[in-house]
Amino acid sequence: MKVLVLGSGAGGGCPQWNCNCAMCAAARNGSRLIRARTQSSIAVSPDGQRWVLLNASPDIGQQLRLQPALQPQHGLRDTPIKAVVLMDAQVDHATGLLSLREGPPIELYVTPCVFEDLTTGLPILSVLEHYCGVRWHMLPVAGEQRVAEFVIDGFETLRFRAIAIPGKAPPYSPHRHDPKVGDNIALEITDRRSGKRLCYAPGLAAVGPSEFEWMQGADCLLVDGTFWTDDEMITAGLGSKRAADMGHLPQCSSDGRPGMMDALDGTRAGRKLLIHINNSNPILDDDGPERAELAHRGIEVAHDGMEISL
Ligand code: MLT
Ligand code: MN
Ligand code: ZN
Repeated sequence: MKVLVLGSGAGGGCPQWNCNCAMCAAARNGSRLIRARTQSSIAVSPDGQRWVLLNASPDIGQQLRLQPALQPQHGLRDTPIKAVVLMDAQVDHATGLLSLREGPPIELYVTPCVFEDLTTGLPILSVLEHYCGVRWHMLPVAGEQRVAEFVIDGFETLRFRAIAIPGKAPPYSPHRHDPKVGDNIALEITDRRSGKRLCYAPGLAAVGPSEFEWMQGADCLLVDGTFWTDDEMITAGLGSKRAADMGHLPQCSSDGRPGMMDALDGTRAGRKLLIHINNSNPILDDDGPERAELAHRGIEVAHDGMEISL
């Protein structure tokens, strides 16, 4: 299985258009080793020919222009992107669907909660009915059902598992302060030929026993790397929300609550990568002490254009 990181940043990317924080400014003026990052999305393929898009970022136009493997190959109009799976209905994960409107109907795999948000509060799917249209494949993660195995047509060598995880629905959603099973999922993809397993969870608010279970079985983990500390936005003067308010587990522990580094330390995954990095996060500096600490623990930071073979 091949994995392409299209966008490794959180909402806004890095540098963010209106932000002059230490990291965004340094990314612009080159005073520190900080790579530009677009918003959150990856693509997965069994053969390098046909791809499934996981999340559709508002930066998708730029992302596809930089990725020959995802560009038209045959005939006048064509795309190697055969299906799209969304982890949630956040703006940075869903609005790229609008930029796929010139193509064939979108084969879209989302939970009922995400479908509801994308046809009401942010009615992208309803709008797309007037363009390419959307074929909704329901991921039955809702109510009592927390896990759903599924296959995607044309991708029979891959086994997909959608798993409900702790997180937050988008700010516009009626579920924002009333969480429901299916607002946020992690996606586990197993290559039936090699048995290798990828787990993708760019938004993850906590690691409890059930999260630990899928993390433990992964050959490659791509998990929430949004914030270094819980109060990062507050101390940087960028906002009033804590990581926890936004549904993200920070890398460092706070008030005795373990952080993502602690969770990852306890797993034996072959590769451990952070993804969906906010532009306030000091781990963006390739030469910084926070990065050295991650390296010491065997944790990598995903970047745009990164390729992973499993
Ligand atoms: C989040 O995950 O909380 C987002 O990156 C926020 C956003 O899209 O603005
Ligand atoms: Mn986000
Ligand atoms: Zn910034």
